Amino acid sequence: MEIYEYTELTSRLEAIIEFDDMSDDEKLSELVNQLRPYLRNVIGATIGKGGEGKTTLATNLAYMLAEEQALRDAQGKSAKPILYMELDHNGDGRLDLGLATSSFNDDGKALRDAITNDGNLKVVRNVRPFLDATVSGKHCADIAARISKLSDAHSLAAYLMLALLLAQISHLYRWIVLDFAPGDKAIQRTGLAAATHLVAPIRNTDNAALGGLGTLTRLIRTNRRLNPEAELTAIAFVGFRKVKGEPTTELLNVRAKIETLITGANMDPSLILDEYVRDARAIATLCRNHGRPAREFALAAAGQLHDDEGKLVPRPRDENGRYVDAEQSIKLAEDYSNLARGVIARVRQRNNALRESDNQMQGAS
Ligand SMILES: Nc1ncnc2c1ncn2[C@@H]1O[C@H](COP(=O)(O)OP(=O)(O)O)[C@@H](O)[C@H]1O
Ligand SMILES: [Mg+2]
Repeated sequence: MEIYEYTELTSRLEAIIEFDDMSDDEKLSELVNQLRPYLRNVIGATIGKGGEGKTTLATNLAYMLAEEQALRDAQGKSAKPILYMELDHNGDGRLDLGLATSSFNDDGKALRDAITNDGNLKVVRNVRPFLDATVSGKHCADIAARISKLSDAHSLAAYLMLALLLAQISHLYRWIVLDFAPGDKAIQRTGLAAATHLVAPIRNTDNAALGGLGTLTRLIRTNRRLNPEAELTAIAFVGFRKVKGEPTTELLNVRAKIETLITGANMDPSLILDEYVRDARAIATLCRNHGRPAREFALAAAGQLHDDEGKLVPRPRDENGRYVDAEQSIKLAEDYSNLARGVIARVRQRNNALRESDNQMQGAS
């Protein structure tokens, strides 16, 4: 693990400086269309409501994707790392990846400055094999206000700051997983402008969770100028009971409601994933407290995880000092692995469709 600093990025501020209230739509759409092909590996985990499992989903997805790349590499196939980036100032992602107590934790200062002020982007390299991550924290609370201020002068183009940043490094990563919170319009727009695929986690069955999904689909529609390609690509259920491997009526009911919502918005209901993550609150909490994604935590619980020096990692214990149930942990990890597969299958499908339409456009011109 080490800090890597991207020092040769071109200025994002210069790219938006020529935009103001008077700029015509065409100029903005030219810039957006230029950026789009570079952002098709950006997957945003988001929903218009907090506490639905965005960070848990995003860190586990990033981890599983990184593991896949590491495996490809071991097989002599081409492989690229994954980048995890959280915009939320609570910085839960750094907990989930075990970075909170590391010397790399700058409470999101570098990330804030990279997004809003042309600062060098700093990533923690090799957080795990084939996984890089930026560190978020309290300083990221300034991002929204700073972007809003930029938008006073440069109108909609201000929301492209992150897209302009990621477009410069996206070729170095197989996937970029962006974890962004619903809290503020400026953050939502900034994340939405950068991501091509949106994955929404659902953990609660109340109307607020459904409302959060509605907010997200509206946001996608009303921000077409910033991102004509953004689509809700997958809806993932996190934390629902599995009885003998089957979903209970709780999940079936919320699924039915969401299906109605999705069809009503003229979207494809097949984006609701069959794969879902079981309710395992105690283990989920331990994963976060131990700084390990579910799969890694399960390996530790099974007494099969080795550290960098090849030493066996002691089996984790719960708050009462008892060994964590390995079988339960493994099942949770399997859920994440299946979920990641479902998400990526849909993302790939969409990217193929996007590439096809690129080719048609090229053929026509
Ligand atoms: N499989 C699960 N079962 C039950 N609770 C879970 C599960 N996975 C995560 N949680 C809990 O959901 C809560 C919210 O998760 P988090 O990823 O931080 O949400 P967000 O980033 O959307 O705010 C956390 O307290 C976490 O422990
Ligand atoms: Mg979060």
